Amino acid sequence: MGTMARTTLFLHAQHRVGAVSPRIFGGFLEHMGRSIYGGVYDPQSRHADADGMREDVIAALRELNLTVVRYPGGNFASGYHWRDGVGPAQQRPTVRELAWQSIEPNEFGTDEFIKLCRKLNWQPMLAVNLGTGTPEEARDWVEYCNAPLGTRESNSRAANGSEAPHAVPLWCLGNEMDGPWQLGHVPVDQYAVRAQQAAKMMKDCDRGIETVACGSSAPSMPTFLDWDRVVLERLGGLADYISLHRYVGNPDDNAPEYFALSNSIDEQVEAVDACARYVQQRLRRKRRPYLCFDEWNVWYRARGGSHTDGRGAFAPPLIEERYNLEDALVVAMFLMSFIRHADCVKIANLAQLVNVIGPLLTQGDKLLKQSIFHAFRMFSHRRDGIALRCAVAGPSYRSERHGEVSYLDCAAILAGAQLHLFTINRGVDKPMELALDFAGVGPIRVQDAEILCAPLKAENTLDAPDAVCAEAFDGWRIANGSSKPTAVLPAHALVATTFDLAPRA
Ligand code: AHR
Repeated sequence: MGTMARTTLFLHAQHRVGAVSPRIFGGFLEHMGRSIYGGVYDPQSRHADADGMREDVIAALRELNLTVVRYPGGNFASGYHWRDGVGPAQQRPTVRELAWQSIEPNEFGTDEFIKLCRKLNWQPMLAVNLGTGTPEEARDWVEYCNAPLGTRESNSRAANGSEAPHAVPLWCLGNEMDGPWQLGHVPVDQYAVRAQQAAKMMKDCDRGIETVACGSSAPSMPTFLDWDRVVLERLGGLADYISLHRYVGNPDDNAPEYFALSNSIDEQVEAVDACARYVQQRLRRKRRPYLCFDEWNVWYRARGGSHTDGRGAFAPPLIEERYNLEDALVVAMFLMSFIRHADCVKIANLAQLVNVIGPLLTQGDKLLKQSIFHAFRMFSHRRDGIALRCAVAGPSYRSERHGEVSYLDCAAILAGAQLHLFTINRGVDKPMELALDFAGVGPIRVQDAEILCAPLKAENTLDAPDAVCAEAFDGWRIANGSSKPTAVLPAHALVATTFDLAPRA
């Protein structure tokens, strides 16, 4: 089997999109299934630390180098009353949880989540309840978390063990409120009123916080874009970000179509960006709302029925998706799209982190890193810098649903005297000859390079935990003193490379 025609990737050190926001390497923990209980928190586990958190899970999460983590939901947030989850453990109520039909003991709540964030150096991002909660309850939560001592809520935080404010910088104004599945779902006009009332009081309570308004919950929704426009128009400066959500999959077992999805991720980002810019101009505002992609992942196998109905159990196994190599490549494609749109995507949260559609799976005391864990890590350790515009000349194929697709998917970050380059050969059977033509720099050399490559359907299991994992890549060839390396990229593989750049002669 030969290689496909040569592809050239043109980069120029001055062709810049914008600084990559570290916050696009975020995650999400919801009170759902075994994400919290039996996931990050499990006082019965032999891995539990003094706070009941699993040290093995924490160590693996640390490797992901996450920056910001959203909590407590998701759909769960729309029925959650934060006061149930603070104060002495014995006094916290056990309640029926309706979003996932489970039992919620409230053993883990705001203060436990903040403790976890501190252990991992995460910025907390809290989603308030605008489904069954009130704007005032949301405002009180901001006071509880962020106010200095001396008020009712901040004194109660101190009584619960934290004199210093939790300093939560990011607040989501509800979750997927356009979805009929959402507790307290309302039409856009009513959501806009609730969100406006809540955001006003929340910001009055702490002028430093940033808010994320609920955008429409998927591009397939009839609400797509119109909902977003109305919300942004009504909220004006009370919304710093608008949220985007996206879950994708390969239900037809068609890898080329699956890999073409990144065209439609780009389109989703560009459509919401256009909407946000439109509203900014119409309202003649100086500041624009940015994009917060606060739920994204592959999720299509573990859907419906017993996957989403906890049947009244405590911590039932819900949506425990198993990931293979092709899913890891699609996860990488999301991240590449966010990097390419560094000028407008400022926050993104991989949904979720542990057990529930997670890169990590616990089984008793054992822990498994799924394929998507490795893809995410390859990016998050090469994240700081300025996204460069990528121009690709090379073969492409026609996707039924997503139009013309280049075999090469890529993103590039200029990081001072280094270049981080991410490439995927979407070809399912042919290697690709790639030439990088990098203008505006002196000679370059490989600092380190990794490849994620395995059979398309390969997945990690407890018996074969390394079936899909990153290995060193030594495929780059660079003539002495050149800035034009070449490589042969294996079919359906992700290569992440850091090049050292020498100053121009
Ligand atoms: O992440 C799982 C669920 O997907 C979230 O609770 C919800 O917001 C989305 O529909």
